Amino acid sequence: MQSSRILSGMRPTGQLHLGHYHGVLKNWLSLQNTHDSFFFVADWHAFTTHYADRISLEKNVMEMVIDWLSIGINPNTATIFAQSHVKEHAELHLLLSMSTPLSWLERVPSYKEVQDNLTQKDLKTYGFLGYPLLQSADILIYKALQVPVGADQAAHVELTREIARRFNHFYGKEENFEQKAQTAIKKMGKKSAKRYSDYRKAFQEQGDVEALVRAQSFLAEQQNITLGDRERLFGYLEGVGRIILPEPEAMLTSVAKMPGLDGRKMSKSYNNTIDLRDDEATIVQKIRQMPTDPARVKLTDPGTPEKCPVWIWHKIYRSESDLVNIRQGCENATMGCVDCKMPLADKINQELSPIANKRAEYQDIKLVKQILHEGSEKASIIARQTMVEVRQAMGLTY
Ligand code: TRP
Ligand code: SF4
Repeated sequence: MQSSRILSGMRPTGQLHLGHYHGVLKNWLSLQNTHDSFFFVADWHAFTTHYADRISLEKNVMEMVIDWLSIGINPNTATIFAQSHVKEHAELHLLLSMSTPLSWLERVPSYKEVQDNLTQKDLKTYGFLGYPLLQSADILIYKALQVPVGADQAAHVELTREIARRFNHFYGKEENFEQKAQTAIKKMGKKSAKRYSDYRKAFQEQGDVEALVRAQSFLAEQQNITLGDRERLFGYLEGVGRIILPEPEAMLTSVAKMPGLDGRKMSKSYNNTIDLRDDEATIVQKIRQMPTDPARVKLTDPGTPEKCPVWIWHKIYRSESDLVNIRQGCENATMGCVDCKMPLADKINQELSPIANKRAEYQDIKLVKQILHEGSEKASIIARQTMVEVRQAMGLTY
């Protein structure tokens, strides 16, 4: 059903790490059971920053999808596909680019941030500026209403909302809109027509936002109206025109910002990650080397958990009673830092070892490619349908 579709993507630019797992993938895992889920490999997006590297794209894509499957993303429930297999994303990106003000793209925070972080690369390119617009096309082409992403992506979803609004404003206008909307209401049947009109009135006259939300899900459930009428009636609720591309929302996990080993955000470019493919010994080693409260030079020096990057990790992985003990041991200098850290390494290994076991089952690349191709077929059906509507709205159907 339209109202419950979610979509999210990931760039195949390297190893997945715990930031991806806690910040995004755990969300995908639970949502695939409750929502019509679309998860894709944003392979075109990889070129926005790696255009000059000729990276081993295929290897990265396969490894990433195998990791998704090992975590439990289920190709029988979710649609898993690759961006470059659904060419319609490119067409929508092109069409949206015509009306997107440069300033909207220039002020997206990641535009400057990534340029500042990757100083060895020239990112003053057309493609890199358009990165979030391509992302908007990815989302809007499936009319996804919710987008499970990490906190760093929230600004891109916000931009997508503005892009959708602008598109609907330019191309959702039609002659005799009011009259067409009224006819569409009548076609719903007497009871539904009254219900719709009551909701609309409550929203427009009293600003009742709950009535608006009710009306939207009521409309999404209506079986006996055409797509065009549905768009009209969505638009008529808010008093604009037809809503061809609905506005999405970001969905964040509870651990939206996973810290890295050094306390900064976990990121490959900071070299502070634990990767999903790290083995047990590597994880123990990485945790052992984590910086702690600098006040604890000797075992007998008391410390403050709040000044220690390990503490943030404990709060994610350890139980409430463990936290109480850790605080006591740290503040009273009765527990050494290595003793404090090792149970944390255990917890992380416990989390990752079933994933490693499942990964061993998915070494058949042919199977992975088949999953991607079947997913792309399913995704294409929706993408093609949206493009028919977009071309129609823009007058591109001669
Ligand atoms: N920009 C996202 C990231 O780096 C990847 C992405 C591309 C995406 N297109 C998307 C995420 C559409 C959600 C929806 O993580
Ligand atoms: Fe950090 Fe634990 Fe050492 Fe305290 S005892 S400084 S919380 S590692």
